Amino acid sequence: MAPPRSIAPATGKLGVLLPGLGAVSSTLIAGVLTARGTGAAPIGSVSQMAHIRLGDRTEGRNPLIRDFVPLASLDDLVFGGWDPISANALEAARTAGVLEERDLAPISSDLEGVVAMDAVFDRDWVKKLDGFRVKQGRSKLDLAAALMEDIERFRSANDCDRLVMVWCGSTEAYREPTEVHESVASFEQGLKDSHVDISPSQIYTYAALQSRVPYANGAPNLSCDLPCMLELADRNGVPIGGKDFKTGQTLMKTILAPGFKSRMLGMRGWYSTNILGNRDGEVLDEPENFKSKEVSKLGVLDTILQPEEYPELYGNLDHVVRINYYPPRGDNKEGWDNIDIFGWMGYPMQIKVDFLCRDSILAAPLVLDLALFFDLAARAGEKGVQEWLSFYFKSPQPADPALPPEHDIFIQQTKLKNTLREWMGEEPVTHSEAG
Ligand SMILES: NC(=O)c1ccc[n+]([C@@H]2O[C@H](COP(=O)([O-])OP(=O)(O)OC[C@H]3O[C@@H](n4cnc5c(N)ncnc54)[C@H](O)[C@@H]3O)[C@@H](O)[C@H]2O)c1
Repeated sequence: MAPPRSIAPATGKLGVLLPGLGAVSSTLIAGVLTARGTGAAPIGSVSQMAHIRLGDRTEGRNPLIRDFVPLASLDDLVFGGWDPISANALEAARTAGVLEERDLAPISSDLEGVVAMDAVFDRDWVKKLDGFRVKQGRSKLDLAAALMEDIERFRSANDCDRLVMVWCGSTEAYREPTEVHESVASFEQGLKDSHVDISPSQIYTYAALQSRVPYANGAPNLSCDLPCMLELADRNGVPIGGKDFKTGQTLMKTILAPGFKSRMLGMRGWYSTNILGNRDGEVLDEPENFKSKEVSKLGVLDTILQPEEYPELYGNLDHVVRINYYPPRGDNKEGWDNIDIFGWMGYPMQIKVDFLCRDSILAAPLVLDLALFFDLAARAGEKGVQEWLSFYFKSPQPADPALPPEHDIFIQQTKLKNTLREWMGEEPVTHSEAG
């Protein structure tokens, strides 16, 4: 058994910085404040509610994860954020319409106290939004410097021991990496020249990494999955990871697909359609922004089903994803899936899944877990891509860019728990009968 990692204790306050004070962020903050105030269970949060088995089953050791690893406590979290539209978390929550007034009323003054800092925002990347609380600067380097000042101001004003940043801003337009992203040197030159290929979220990433703040990306656009950010994270010793929170339809896909594959059932097609009416849906109504999401959602099945290994089962699969903006639904998304599978002697069958979900209700606990686990990773001396947190992402960033990401939620969960076990000096659980 490996000796336990030396992990610095979670003393003092942890600042959770959220670029994008919209539906997800405001739902997260409201849920944490409510849990703190009333003791309500933080449902959906693995870090808070899941147990972890240690050793052999017969030993009966099964603590809560939060009692097993030294995580920051909910009482020690302080929230901050940037937004080009929302003034504060209360206004964001009311605009989003996820939570009812009866849930907001008891915490309204605390929510109002989370005041949005002016954003680094550029309509070229999010055409559907008209931001007005926006930083001005002569160059993108000036904007990065302004974010770093915000970070330091927040740190000292709130007396934070440590910070983490989780991108909860709108999905930016789809772009491929270019030469400006190749190295820290080229990116910094690009910031000075206000290079058109540098997006706002990349400026936040740079500011976080320069401030030695762990960074996770909840949206599907490029931000920390770029060679320059890998180099910077390594140089400054900062954990990073992404991307795109795994909620709703993709969550269902990565639960179901491993099941079909485990039974060697074939698949001919998977047609997914979504209707949603929140601001996220409106942003994704723009083809360039939808493209970022589509690429993220489409990657999932191939790596789970491995068509190259199983051509007769998965070699001829039509995988289609649609998102339609439909305002009457608000944040209550409907994700329909039609799955065409086939079995013994090739006989076809169909499965229909209609998930009437609440996007931000599913996403909020993921942001909480990511904030707590990224902080843990930093205290455990980790830097670079945190592959063990793939569990939370639709499009997980592999530590080795040459390797495909792991999408199977059950493998991801095993990886997460075994990483925690090994850090704490416990044996990984393999479920083997052999040894
Ligand atoms: N809710 C989910 O289930 C889910 C799942 C996966 C990914 N996501 C992603 O998480 C992000 C947040 O989702 P949401 O439902 O809260 O969306 P939202 O539209 O309610 O909130 C996003 C907020 O980001 C702000 N914003 C845009 N550009 C910004 C910038 N440059 N700097 C700071 N703020 C900026 C917007 O003004 C808005 O208030 C989106 O990118 C979404 O695609 C959400």
